[in-house]
Amino acid sequence: MTMGFSRIRSIVVLTGAGISAESGLSTFRLKDGLWDNHSVEDVATPEAFLRNPALVHEFYNARRQQLSSVVPNAAHEALAKFERNFSGDFLLVTQNVDDLHDRAGSENLIHMHGELLASRCSNCAAIARINHDLTTNSVCSNCQCAGTLRPDIVWFGEIPMGMEQIYTALAKCELFVSIGTSGNVYPAAGFFQEAKIAGALTVELNLDPSERATGFDIRHYGPATRLVPEFFSTAVRGLSTVDTPCQYP
Ligand code: OAD
Repeated sequence: MTMGFSRIRSIVVLTGAGISAESGLSTFRLKDGLWDNHSVEDVATPEAFLRNPALVHEFYNARRQQLSSVVPNAAHEALAKFERNFSGDFLLVTQNVDDLHDRAGSENLIHMHGELLASRCSNCAAIARINHDLTTNSVCSNCQCAGTLRPDIVWFGEIPMGMEQIYTALAKCELFVSIGTSGNVYPAAGFFQEAKIAGALTVELNLDPSERATGFDIRHYGPATRLVPEFFSTAVRGLSTVDTPCQYP
């Protein structure tokens, strides 16, 4: 298929756990993934937090601690580099709660499932940047209440963040690229259909075909650190030569 990236003015990219896998962070559903070793009902629902907040804090504290020993990989870097060189609209939506896209330098970025490095107060709703463990006694730096902080993470049954901005971008995007996500969790799993309705070309870059694979126009399978730089550097070359279509089979 031949694509003229030089004509594409609006791009939405969706990423999932697969993009951070080669940095050393576990995915959720691959063998030995996070949901193999923990039950969603125990650590990733509002009910779980009401029932056993200490266990939920322990789960997210361990994941937050891991961040200091990992770094962005070539896939995160390639997206940030592409965004810097692209003059059109570019929105990166990640389901990941790690900070690897931020550290790679991505700017127009929505963490639709929240962030490990933020807390939310259930008393005053203040969001604070954190880089330390949360406990059932942690004190909110805004209202000074103790025991009211939770990780600023979207749990099952809660509404993801930034949805209005995401659907607005999807409604006018010309290229939608899904990277490293299994397509199991809605609403993210349905984004490619929104993009298709807008007339966008849809691309899946993943290790294996996702649950939604057959719905994408272009599909490439392999590690993100290879596929993402390849795909987006081709796009950058296309952009630098106006009206020269770049070949991407
Ligand atoms: P999953 O664990 O469901 O899927 C990860 C995907 O990444 C799989 O399709 C793998 O094939 C692919 N993958 C693994 N290693 C890869 C690599 N090196 N390069 C490219 N692809 C690779 O993770 P997500 O789809 O992100 O939500 O999961 C979506 C949501 O489900 C998460 O945000 C989380 C979880 O429950 C919440 O906690 C709310």
